[in-house]
Amino acid sequence: MDERWQRPRGTQDVLPAEAGRVEKLRRLVAEVAALYGYGAIETPVFEQTAVFVDGVGDATDIVQHERYSFVDAGGVALTLRPEGTAAVARAYVENGLSAWPKPVRLYYWAPMFRRERPQKGRYRQHQQYGFELYGSPEPSADAEVLLAARRLLQEVGLSPRVLVNSIGCDQCRPRYREALVAYFERHVMDLCEDCRRRLAENPLRVLDCKQDQAVARGAPDIAAFWCADCTRHQEAVMALVTEAGMAVERDPALVRGLDYYSRTVFEVHDPSLGAQSTVLGGGRYDGLTARVGGAPVPAVGFAGGVERLLLAAGAALQAPAPPSVYVAQVGAGHQGWQAAEWLRGRGIPTEVDLLGRSLKAQMKEAGRRARVAVLAGGQDWEDGMVTVKRLTDGQEARVAVAEMAAAVGAWLHDPDTPGAPD
Ligand code: HAM
Repeated sequence: MDERWQRPRGTQDVLPAEAGRVEKLRRLVAEVAALYGYGAIETPVFEQTAVFVDGVGDATDIVQHERYSFVDAGGVALTLRPEGTAAVARAYVENGLSAWPKPVRLYYWAPMFRRERPQKGRYRQHQQYGFELYGSPEPSADAEVLLAARRLLQEVGLSPRVLVNSIGCDQCRPRYREALVAYFERHVMDLCEDCRRRLAENPLRVLDCKQDQAVARGAPDIAAFWCADCTRHQEAVMALVTEAGMAVERDPALVRGLDYYSRTVFEVHDPSLGAQSTVLGGGRYDGLTARVGGAPVPAVGFAGGVERLLLAAGAALQAPAPPSVYVAQVGAGHQGWQAAEWLRGRGIPTEVDLLGRSLKAQMKEAGRRARVAVLAGGQDWEDGMVTVKRLTDGQEARVAVAEMAAAVGAWLHDPDTPGAPD
C-alpha cells in the first residue's frame, strides 16, 4: 500500500470491538475516581513548550528526544502534551485551585504524544488515565493514591507487582547524587554511551538503564542517604499500604524518568507485557507547581497507559455485547424499517436489513447479529400484529404491534434467555 495513506508510525486506529473495551475501561476509571472523590479535569492537547521543558525537566528523555514541538503561525512555541502531570499543574496554578478546600483531587483520561521507537505497548500517540492529589504532604496521601491504583488494577483482574522507592528530597538527594556520580565514575568504562552522558545531567537515571544493570546493582542505596523526614515519610507510606493489605516491594533502583518527583516514587509492572511492562507509574512531586509559575504545593499522583492496561487485562476486560434486536421484513414494503426505528425510539438497540435480502437471508443474518428477531410485514402487519422470536432457543410469539417493544424487552432482559446480561 502507498505509504502516504498509512497512519503515522506508532499510532493506532481503534476499531469498534477494541473501542468497546476502551469505553469499558474508561467507565471503570471514572468509577474508581468517584470512589476516591476525584473530579475530572481536561487540559488542552498542546501547551506552551515551557510547561513541559520547565515542568518535566530539560534533562528528561521526553523533553530532549521525544517532543512533538512546533512554532505556530503566530510564533508561539507549542508542544503536543507528552504527559499529563505538568499540564494539570499548569491548570491548577492558572485557575487558582490552591484556593479550593484541600486536598484537591483531579483525574484525567487523555491522549499523550511521545516520539519513541514504536513496539508492542509503546506508541507515539497513547492514552493515559491519571490521578493527581494536591495539597497534602502527608504519607496518607501517597498511600491513598497507591490504593486507588491498586483498586483500578483489581477491577480489571490484575494484581501485579507494585514497586516503591523514595528518591529523597532537596535536602538529602544532592549527597546521594554525589555518591552515585563517584561510584559510576569508577565504572565509567562499563556504562553505555547514553549513561555516560546522563552521568553529568541526571545520574539517578543510570540506575534504571536496561543495559547497565550489572553496574547499577553495585551502586549505593539511596536509603542510606535519606534525611530523617524522608525516612519517616517512606516508612509511614509502606506501613499504611501494607496494613491495607497491599503487597509492595521496595526497589532501590526505581527512580522514574521525570524530574519533578520528590520522595515517593512507584511503578506497577506486569511481566506479560514483555519489554514495555510498566502498567502505571507515579509518585510525589511537591515542587512542580513552582516550576510552572505558582507557589509550591505538595502533590502526589500516578498515570497509566490505557493500551498497556488493555493488553495486560486481556479477556478479563471484555466489552459486553449490547442486547440486540434484528427486524426482518416479511414480503415487500418498509414496515420492518419503520418497526426498527420505533423500537430504537423506545431505547432498544435494533438493526434492520438495508440490502433487500430475502426473508431467509435476513433470518440468517439475525442469527449472527442479534438475540431477538421481529418479523414485520405482510398480512400480520395489516392485522396489527408482528412475530417476536427468541433466537437463542427458537421460541416465538405473535404480539400486537403496540406490544412489540414490551415483548422484545422482556426477552432481551429475561435472565432465562441464554446470553442475557445480568
Ligand atoms: P510515565 O511513566 O511517563 O509517567 O507514563 C505513565 C504510563 O503511561 C506508563 O507507566 C505507561 O503505562 C504509559 N506510557 C508511557 N509512555 C507510553 C507510550 N509511548 N506508549 C504507551 N504507553 C505509554 C507519567 O507520564 C507521569 N505523568 C505519571 C504521574 C502522574 N506521576 C505523577 N502523577
